Amino acid sequence: MSQPVPISQLSNSFKQASLSPKKEVSASPTSSYLDTAVRPRALTLNRATKALKPFSTGDIKLLVLENINQTALKTFTKKGYQVEFYKTSLPEDELIEKIKDVQVIGIRSKTKLTANVLKHAKNLIAIGCFCIGTNQVDLEYAAEHGIAVFNSPFCNSRSVAEMTLAEIITLSRQMGDRSMEMHQGTWNKKSAKCWEVRGKTLGIVGYGHIGSQLSVLAESLGMHVLYYDILSLMALGTSEQIPTLNELLNSSDFVTLHVPETPETKKMISTPQLAEMKDGAYLLNNCRGSVVDIPALVEALKLGKLAGAALDVYPAEPRKNGPLFEGDLFVGLEELKSLNNVILTPHIGGSTEEAQSAIGVEVSNALSNYINEGTSTGAVNFPEVSLRGLDWDQKNVVRVLYIHQNVPGVLKTVNQILSDHNIDKQFSDSRGGVAYLMADISSVNLDDIKSIYEKLENTPYRIITRLLY
Ligand SMILES: NC(=O)c1ccc[n+]([C@@H]2O[C@H](COP(=O)([O-])OP(=O)(O)OC[C@H]3O[C@@H](n4cnc5c(N)ncnc54)[C@H](O)[C@@H]3O)[C@@H](O)[C@H]2O)c1
Repeated sequence: MSQPVPISQLSNSFKQASLSPKKEVSASPTSSYLDTAVRPRALTLNRATKALKPFSTGDIKLLVLENINQTALKTFTKKGYQVEFYKTSLPEDELIEKIKDVQVIGIRSKTKLTANVLKHAKNLIAIGCFCIGTNQVDLEYAAEHGIAVFNSPFCNSRSVAEMTLAEIITLSRQMGDRSMEMHQGTWNKKSAKCWEVRGKTLGIVGYGHIGSQLSVLAESLGMHVLYYDILSLMALGTSEQIPTLNELLNSSDFVTLHVPETPETKKMISTPQLAEMKDGAYLLNNCRGSVVDIPALVEALKLGKLAGAALDVYPAEPRKNGPLFEGDLFVGLEELKSLNNVILTPHIGGSTEEAQSAIGVEVSNALSNYINEGTSTGAVNFPEVSLRGLDWDQKNVVRVLYIHQNVPGVLKTVNQILSDHNIDKQFSDSRGGVAYLMADISSVNLDDIKSIYEKLENTPYRIITRLLY
């Protein structure tokens, strides 16, 4: 029988075959598509359009905090923005001082952009939240002052789906318990109540970004997939939409939750729903802590109604790392920790290098599209408006970006200002009290641009006017 080659010799074989390992080790098969240096497909898909620059301001200045991913910094550098970068968040007084001068700020979850901070940001046009949530920003204040806020809610969907799949097998084989026993020196080889997942039924509650990816992955393992969603959604593969939650609970060996936090999903799984589940089924919650009633789950596990559970999210979670997952953080915590075949993870479903990198790419692209083209697609607090890019050879064209109060009579005034010129294309939308108009005006010279800018700036409805040319 041939002997395995020692790892040290493998790298020599790689070298001989000219297959030098990458400098940065990545265990992920997707790293190549996230690597901005090799994205020919993405580049060819984005039609090359004319790069626009602002008429009224000089260089674009960005304040970037909280050590956001390098992928974002690469985008900003490529665009030629002036970037002031900090690895941490800043104390409020320093933040107020720094934010006065910049057009864009990039943050993660620790920087609080309250109305008190934002009122000092006289030049700010956009905020990039390089994370999922945006509740660290006063979104309403930002919108009223014409500041668009972008985030990246779905870049970690694959990471959550993969972790859920791993947990399904781990629960089914009681691997968490066996591993814990081995760490304590106990050899406990057993097969009773340990199952393959092939042929079992997975019930997915919430068939959105995560639920639908998981559906495809689970089918590849030979699982039958059922899903329940308030929307009627197209089934992927051979999965099947089920009309009621109870029917899904009755039929599934594994139930996994992937719904948002809403009044309807609060304690969506409590005693009556657990009672509807099959005896010996498993429950997984990787969505929001409020969705599962923990004391009810503890009871179902203690009674043996459920054979196991995996939780990544909790009704209350520690704010920082450390020995803080204990005591009365939430009701039922200590009992939960004492139960067999219960996997507890510290809200890491979306925490992968790939997800962080993808967040950096998505938010920095959204910001640069807004800065250079005015496109607000994906903004969370703001009307979403987009116009196709200008062709490279288009000359004497200006793009008008006019954020204004959403009151009657604005378009009449604006179109009077623009009517002396040729309006190539125009689009406007509103959200609450704020509206956003984009228009491309052709056959204009620098004097025309200056005049359009001054007239728009002097309208009573104006929040922010930007002209790109
Ligand atoms: N554990 C983590 O680290 C982690 C990471 C990312 C997302 N999440 C959470 O996962 C959840 C799902 O994320 P997503 O990106 O798939 O969201 P999504 O918006 O793409 O999908 C959610 C789905 O739930 C459905 N839904 C809403 N209310 C429902 C209800 N009452 N009953 C049944 N279905 C309902 C929606 O129609 C939608 O199809 C979110 O709560 C998100 O916060 C957790």
